[in-house]
Amino acid sequence: MKRISLTQHLIEEQRQHNTIPAELRLLIEVVSRACKTISHAVGKGALGEVLGTSDASSENIQGEIQKKLDIISNDILLEANEWGGHLAAMASEEMESIHPIPNRYPMGEYLLLFDPLDGSSNIDVNVSIGTIFSVLKAPPGMANPTEQDFLQPGRQQVAAGYAVYGPQTVLVLTTGNGVQSFTLDREMGSWVMTDSRAQIPEDTKEYAINASNARHWHPPVSRYIDELQAGVTGERGRDFNMRWVASMVADVHRILTRGGIFMYPADARDPGKPGKLRLMYEANPMAFIVEQAGGAATDGRHRILDIQPEKLHQRVAVFLGSKNEVERVTSYHNEA
Ligand code: AHG
Ligand code: MN
Ligand code: MN
Ligand code: MN
Repeated sequence: MKRISLTQHLIEEQRQHNTIPAELRLLIEVVSRACKTISHAVGKGALGEVLGTSDASSENIQGEIQKKLDIISNDILLEANEWGGHLAAMASEEMESIHPIPNRYPMGEYLLLFDPLDGSSNIDVNVSIGTIFSVLKAPPGMANPTEQDFLQPGRQQVAAGYAVYGPQTVLVLTTGNGVQSFTLDREMGSWVMTDSRAQIPEDTKEYAINASNARHWHPPVSRYIDELQAGVTGERGRDFNMRWVASMVADVHRILTRGGIFMYPADARDPGKPGKLRLMYEANPMAFIVEQAGGAATDGRHRILDIQPEKLHQRVAVFLGSKNEVERVTSYHNEA
């Protein structure tokens, strides 16, 4: 079977559809190269002394203790992307404020956001983790990038993707023309296309939610989950199965592969607390990918990609995956 590489795919996209300007293509190549380096570090595990928390036991802006790999991955992405000339600035889950490109390098026209290491709680137990990224266009004529320049709704993303570091390392990418997957050929060191058009089935019998929070859920979420759990004799007339990896990348990757619905709702613990996941570097890139694969993504009421961000590290409730299920749970919220 003839397979094509990521580079070949990006060049063909540029030629045939004109969806990828050369600068964006090169930027995606740099990010994908950084993901290769992260994959290598992840694969070393205890041998590379990359497990556990950082010596400084530092906390990030979200109040989470940083793992060594959170910091290593963040540094790898910064280092790889600083000098390429394609970016005006970067932003990350692990950095409080934006990271402008140092003066010694040329400034490009894109903004890059990332969750350098998603699924931190799974690092030390050898369960799939990943990297999530989102690319925005910098506002025209911008001289000194500010946080404000990043606060664009997700529908303005020009590219988004993730790498999942599991039994295989797989890069999933969209530039607005469907979703493609590339498996890392570890011997050759290259990304090889293994799915040219990922599609999420509209219906599913599988759902993902952290059920330990059930007592805090709002009524529309409890109603929806109760119906799923009632199984074949209940309202839905069929049994549903549950999966929760606790790495968003791995849960979304399963949904991209065989369908399903993923939920991280807001709950009643802290009124007004809008869920756990971060809009700019988790929800938006995943929503772009899911929509491009025929699925849907909402915050329970609105399309995620239409949300106007107010803060870089803003959190948001997330319901994404198989369209008919996302529409159902969204309608329960909008009825309430
Ligand atoms: P991160 O490791 O980047 O902070 O993200 C963790 C997120 C996400 O990957 C996952 O879906 C969720 O946290 C799991 O949360 P629970 O531990 O509450 O299940
Ligand atoms: Mn984290
Ligand atoms: Mn994450
Ligand atoms: Mn993270």
